[in-house]
Amino acid sequence: MTNIAAHGGHLINQYQPDLDLTGITKEVELDATALSDLELIATGAFSPLTGFLTETDYHSVVKNMRLANGTVWSLPITLPVKDASNYAAGDTVLLKQNGVVYGVLNITDIYEPDQQVEALNVYKTTEEAHPGVKKVYERGHIYLGGPVTLVKRIERKQFAEFYFDPAETRRIFKENGWKSIVGFQTRNPVHRAHEYIQKSALEIVDALLLNPLVGETKSDDIAADIRMESYQVLLRDYYPADRVKLAVFPAAMRYAGPREAIFHAIVRKNYGCTHFIVGRDHAGVGDYYGTYEAQEIFSNFTAEEIGITLLFFEHSFFCKKCGNMASSKTCPHGKEDHVILSGTKVREMLRSGQIPPSEFSRKEVVEVLIRGMKETANS
Ligand code: ADX
Repeated sequence: MTNIAAHGGHLINQYQPDLDLTGITKEVELDATALSDLELIATGAFSPLTGFLTETDYHSVVKNMRLANGTVWSLPITLPVKDASNYAAGDTVLLKQNGVVYGVLNITDIYEPDQQVEALNVYKTTEEAHPGVKKVYERGHIYLGGPVTLVKRIERKQFAEFYFDPAETRRIFKENGWKSIVGFQTRNPVHRAHEYIQKSALEIVDALLLNPLVGETKSDDIAADIRMESYQVLLRDYYPADRVKLAVFPAAMRYAGPREAIFHAIVRKNYGCTHFIVGRDHAGVGDYYGTYEAQEIFSNFTAEEIGITLLFFEHSFFCKKCGNMASSKTCPHGKEDHVILSGTKVREMLRSGQIPPSEFSRKEVVEVLIRGMKETANS
């Protein structure tokens, strides 16, 4: 184990492949988000959660960004169903997807949340145009809460070698002798600005955990398999192999901006990271959040309560006058000298086979992205 404690004190393990399921007849069908949440709870990535939020914890998280016992927790991890008439508190139910049993839930709570309040508090908007809010409204209006047990791991067909549980990443960090590890969350290809902040961080810590989110994302984000290929090419050509670990984060993206930044930091602590990068508009979407709101939100908590060191970075870019990567903090020149492209613009360019400037993205990365997107379009 690395030195850093899991959130709440110890790493949760709710995986019991030998659990006796005889006699359990009721079941809940899981969507992709619920299935990944189940596995992440059970393997300790979501420590200290041991299940889907109970009603008391849910209200406390939505209102105060804390579990009922005071531990910081910013996103409601819930199990929504459309119809709960078949369930009662005290039931043990099978958690299934497409006929496969992945786990069981001991139902302690069945409750009807006010999803408008949830949306407003967690996402800062009730608009359905927000992809996270849309999902809250779509998934189901009644929540089942209680502890879970995972009985079967999800089979991974793509990039299986990049899945590691928190206990495994902790072991890998230890084996490498890394004492300080910075975690980097991304749902995008790694462009030069990402590389700049990762490497700036790497100047002061032992290692980087490049930890791309590969769970559900919105449809116009670049697909995880294409991204994974681009990360590998980038690491091969531009990163020190003995100081970087690529591992996926198999959670769904919520696009909850500031609240999700807290969640992302805490989860990376559970994976054993000692530091976590929060840059510009972390986990944001559209114009719902201020550029640095995901950094500012941490001032609501003490450093001990978060328990992982945050590294905040300002908007970064290539500056033609400086002749290198810089940020609004380090560059005195004007916008006209900066190479800045929006995510939407870059995706448009890539889709039409146009190559973004090398100051924006490494050519090896761009080649993978253009080829991957062409293949997706033709399939
Ligand atoms: S996220 O939704 O996963 O946060 P993204 O993959 O774009 O989106 O960002 C990954 C991390 O890099 C986040 O911490 C984000 O704030 C940061 N980031 C992205 N682009 C920049 C940039 N140009 N300057 C500074 N930080 C950035």
